[in-house]
Amino acid sequence: MATANAAGLAGLDPYPIRVEVCCTRGPSFFQLVGLAEASVREARVRVASALAGMGILLDEYAITINLAPAGIRKSGAALDLAIAAGVLGAIDKLPAASLGRTLLIGELSLDGKVQPVGGVLPTLHGVRDSEHTHVIVPEGNAREAGLARDDRVHAVGDLKALVQHFRGERSLSLVEPTQFAPETSARYPDLTEVRGQALARQAVEAAAAGSHNLLMIGPPGAGKTLLARALPDLLPPLDYAEAVEATKIHSVAGLLTSERGMIDRRPFRAPHHTISEAGLVGGGEVPRPGEVSLAHHGVLFLDELLEFRRSALEALRQPMEDGFVRIVRTRASATFPARPLVVAAANPCPCGYAGHNRRTCRCTPKLRRSYNARLSGPLLDRFDIHALMQPVEVSALTGSQRSESTTEVRKRVLAARKVQRARFEAGAASSPMNSGLTLADLQPVTRRADTKAFLEKAMEDLGLSARAFVKILRVARTLADLQGSERIDSSHVREAVVGRLVDARTPALIPGSFD
Ligand SMILES: Nc1ncnc2c1ncn2[C@@H]1O[C@H](COP(=O)(O)OP(=O)(O)OP(=O)(O)O)[C@@H](O)[C@H]1O
Ligand SMILES: [Mg+2]
Repeated sequence: MATANAAGLAGLDPYPIRVEVCCTRGPSFFQLVGLAEASVREARVRVASALAGMGILLDEYAITINLAPAGIRKSGAALDLAIAAGVLGAIDKLPAASLGRTLLIGELSLDGKVQPVGGVLPTLHGVRDSEHTHVIVPEGNAREAGLARDDRVHAVGDLKALVQHFRGERSLSLVEPTQFAPETSARYPDLTEVRGQALARQAVEAAAAGSHNLLMIGPPGAGKTLLARALPDLLPPLDYAEAVEATKIHSVAGLLTSERGMIDRRPFRAPHHTISEAGLVGGGEVPRPGEVSLAHHGVLFLDELLEFRRSALEALRQPMEDGFVRIVRTRASATFPARPLVVAAANPCPCGYAGHNRRTCRCTPKLRRSYNARLSGPLLDRFDIHALMQPVEVSALTGSQRSESTTEVRKRVLAARKVQRARFEAGAASSPMNSGLTLADLQPVTRRADTKAFLEKAMEDLGLSARAFVKILRVARTLADLQGSERIDSSHVREAVVGRLVDARTPALIPGSFD
């Protein structure tokens, strides 16, 4: 008998797996029990081949392996290393007692090389305070593992080196702490390329400053996609804690490349509208994160919002409200953080020209109604800012006036973010981001007579929900912060209301219907 230690993951949280190996001499036999999925059961083939490469043949043994606890489904190939070590211990090729307090993570290839696996960083984080004396990870995961800054972590390249380690012949190299420097090079495009569209540009700036979800509605070719793609560069670089969190999510999804080994810039995820519900919010028998979690701390861009499946958009509502996704399955459940800035773009109607200042909409009223019905209601409610766009003015395109660059706008965004954080740290706000403020945080605004009267009329005329009401105040806070004003006055509230015109009961998408 020998026992080796491995770990499984439920979402981002590891749980211990004991690999119990029982070997007797007898007719060749290799069985694996303990609710193992195909990928784990196939470990038999990889382990037997890797050992054969070292001249160790399992033909003469009857081997039974139990993965405990037996009630949890095990998946993936990361248990290979523990299974191989357990077998070697059980047939006395290494001292079984030495396996005791070592955690083993890694996949084996047929020739005995240790292959990188997903989920290393979340596992290391989860076992920070465990009693393991050594944690052994694949060399290909070393950079990622270095983010855990844990001095018990060693990297292994092949099975032979692992055996030498346990026999005390040669020790494995320690994993160096990974130095963190966020990637700051610009992405494409720069805001100077966006002509005209003053209101939409302001909406993008406010979205970046207060982390407000933004919906842009406008005719084809107005610059919606262009603006959305320019937005990520307005955000501050990732900090270390954010990078670690984003890296953990990508690691579980198996999306880290070993040479980078980490997420060092804000994710920008732009899934195609054909994506499934599970692809967007996460899912699977062994829960995996979806796009909304992969975009955590970054931007989730839903271009052509209304082309997405209805079920996918509905599934998105809960994470947009809560900031996390919970996936519950019979044998496994998981929680993934999901707090991206959500930016969406849509046309105002199927033909794209409703509310257009020069062209006429060719859609039938019925078509318009069903389109609006998809756009309205709870989904619309979850966007803090609705930017209604008109086509770019010809003069803006032919003129020589230069638009502000990303660098210039980002200065204001970063200053506004600093103010929000200071307010939070001083205890004057319950969130470091305006998008997370509560009605109580914003109460002083509603006490002033002028803004109170204006808000009441807007609520009445536009038929806004309570959620929309709070969102208006949050955006007003951001607009004031962008101007460096501590006081929110009625002009900020007015602009924030204009940023929600799509909420108006009738005629939903025509600008200027409320003044
Ligand atoms: N405001 C603008 N300033 C400069 N160029 C623009 C602007 N808007 C659009 N363009 C040009 O038109 C192209 C298409 O714009 P974009 O893809 O952003 O439009 P869109 O609003 O997303 O349209 P659609 O609804 O068809 O997706 C851009 O790549 C750019 O070359
Ligand atoms: Mg577009």
